[in-house]
Parts: sequence; C-alpha cells; structure tokens
Amino acid sequence: MDNSKYQLETVATQFDWRDVGATDAGDVVSPIHLTTTHEMRAPGEADHGYKYTRFDNPTRDALETRLARLSGADHAIACASGTAAMAATCLSIVEAGDHVVAFDGIYGGTRVLFEELLADSLGATVEYVDATDVNAVDEAVTDETTLVWMESPTNPLLRLCDLSAVADIAASVDATYVVDNTFATPYFQHPLAHGADMVVHSTTKYLNGHSDSMGGVVLTDDKAAANDVAQTQSYDLGGTLAPFDCYLTLRGLRTFPLRMDRHESNAAEIATYLADHPATVQVNYPGLESHPQHELATQQMDGFGGIVSFELDATGAETRAVLEELDVFTLAVSLGGTESLADHPATMSASYLSAQERAAAGISDSLVRLPVGVEHVDDLIGDLKAALAKL
Ligand SMILES: Cc1ncc(COP(=O)(O)O)c(C=O)c1O
Repeated sequence: MDNSKYQLETVATQFDWRDVGATDAGDVVSPIHLTTTHEMRAPGEADHGYKYTRFDNPTRDALETRLARLSGADHAIACASGTAAMAATCLSIVEAGDHVVAFDGIYGGTRVLFEELLADSLGATVEYVDATDVNAVDEAVTDETTLVWMESPTNPLLRLCDLSAVADIAASVDATYVVDNTFATPYFQHPLAHGADMVVHSTTKYLNGHSDSMGGVVLTDDKAAANDVAQTQSYDLGGTLAPFDCYLTLRGLRTFPLRMDRHESNAAEIATYLADHPATVQVNYPGLESHPQHELATQQMDGFGGIVSFELDATGAETRAVLEELDVFTLAVSLGGTESLADHPATMSASYLSAQERAAAGISDSLVRLPVGVEHVDDLIGDLKAALAKL
C-alpha cells in the first residue's frame, strides 16, 4: 500500500507493517518485537537488517515509518523521550564554541537542556530572543550560528513565530533550523513545508495521546542529518525508544486525527468561555481573534490545537485554590492525553525554573494551563464555572 497518496486519517489508521519486516501472519496491528538481539544467518550476515535493538527494531521501524508518513517527512528517528530527541538533535549539530539562537518562549525543560548540555558542557553560546518579532531573530544570527531552535506555539504561553520567515533567516547563515512541533502536532502544522530542516516532537503528548508512554521523534527530509541523529542517539546516548512504547504509540496514532479534532473543538469553546469570564485578565489561544498572532496562526497552521492558558485576576494562592476546586480536570503536568488536565506552571510544570527565570519567561503566579481533553465540553465548562465561582 502506498500511504503517500492517502489523507492523514487513512495513514493513521491503516498499518502497512509488511514494509518493515514483520511476520507474515496477516496481523492488522503491529506485532511487538521485544527481542533485544536477532539471529544471524551466518557470522556477520544479518540479511533481515536487524542485529541489536538499540540500533534497529521492527516495531520501532513500524512506528518511524508511520510517523514519517504522518508528518510528510522522509525520515523519522524515535527516541526514549522528547528530551532524548532534543538532546540527540542538538548533539548531532552543535560543537564547542558554536552560537545557537533560540526562541525565549521555549518549554522550560528545553532551556535547561540548552543551558546544561550546550552552554555548560559544550561551551556553546545560546542566545534567547523574542521570536514573535522576526527582526529579533534576524539581528541575533551570526556566521557562527549553527542552530536556530524554534517552538510554535510555545509552552505554556502559546506564542508563535513566523515559521517561513525564520527559515529564510536560518538559511542566510547556513544554520540548521529545528522546530519543536509538540503543541501543534503534524495534524495542525507542517514546519518542514515551511522550510524547517528538522522537527522534533515529544510523542509523550498528542502522538501517543493516552498518557501511558514516554517518547520523542526527530523528523527530517535530510538523509545525512537523520543518520547523524540516529548515530548520536543509538551509539552515544543510547536513547532509543523501547519496542513496547513503540507499540503503544502506534496504537495511539490510530485515533490521532479523531482525537485532535475533539481536543481542538473543546479547547476553542473553553477559550471563548474563559475570554468572556470576568475573572480572567488574559486568555492565550491562537484561535481567538484577540490572540496577537491570530492572523499568523491562520496562515501557517491548519488548526489551533488543544491547549489554552490564561491569567486570573487573582493572587497565586487564590489561583491555586481555584485549581483545587476542579473535579473533571485532573491536576497534573504534561499534556496531550485524552483526559483534561489543569496545571499551575509556577508550582508545577515550570517549578524547576527560578522565580526570576519564570518572570523572564512571562510565567506569573496567576497563570493556569489547560491541556483540554476529549470529554464532553459541557462537563469541562461546568467544572471551570464552578471552580471560578469560588473566587
Ligand atoms: C513543547 C515540549 N517539548 C518537549 C518536551 C519534552 O518532552 P518529554 O517530556 O517527552 O521529554 C515537552 C514536555 O513537556 C514539551 O512540552
């Protein structure tokens, strides 16, 4: 079956496992190949292409094939977490003394990775810029810049960068341009089509979609870049994705388009409800016309995603008290599962940043992030209404 000629919903549902050397028993779901080693026909002759699971595994091949097709990419490398995918990507590009330009709104964990791995260990210089302003990116890049790292929309403030404009800037200095597409997913945004060289996702989030597997993926059309990342992750970091997690992610992907539609329609209704609520001073959702980059979102995204964040007209303590009242929303970090979560970034998902770093990143004590699930939207809005009534 040539999946390339079908729509994303069909690619997500049909599993073309014969492409990846699975058994010939007619399975309609991918078998899980738990084996860590593969028998050779003769010493040194692994004609089936598999030797050792850290390098290659049929279930991982199946997942990588599926993720590449869903993303319109030629190559996918599945890693042990989104962080493992980001580390393998960075280490395959950045060398000692290099200059890196990154969006100042990136996920806090990515910032920690850049500071500890790239700046402290490698001695690279990482410059954070307000990439909502394309001129700031243009002014930051130099001939020493080897990596330009964007995330759009960002976690947790849903800020955007102009993906195509940044591609031109990165190309002008020959830097590799990487986009973290975790929030938008391949359902709503295609950074490779906007000129990105590489895309990373935490598959822990929407791609697996059920909050039961950690994983990450690197996607690219560049064969040499893909080989470098694969080499770095399997030989240097050892961070390949385990077969069972590959299976779980493949299973989650079957409903990926269905889930994304529901995440989005629920999030859009909740964003509108919150924007009209007197207790909020700001609601961040790219689908709202009040979002400062709504126009850009409509141009470069096919939808606005399932995450809403908002500022309450309240103290940190009052904000926490509101969150404690929630019943349907579960108080937890992470995002992208079928269940709706509520996060107080200052004390939860961004608590490992110092108060100064949080302030610099625009994460106030009254900020709330809602990864909206697939429940009935009336129950979600009812839950928010009851909790906000306590203010
Ligand atoms: C935007 C973004 N990128 C990367 C990551 C890291 O992914 P993981 O937790 O799978 O390592 C996260 C995790 O929250 C994230 O939100």
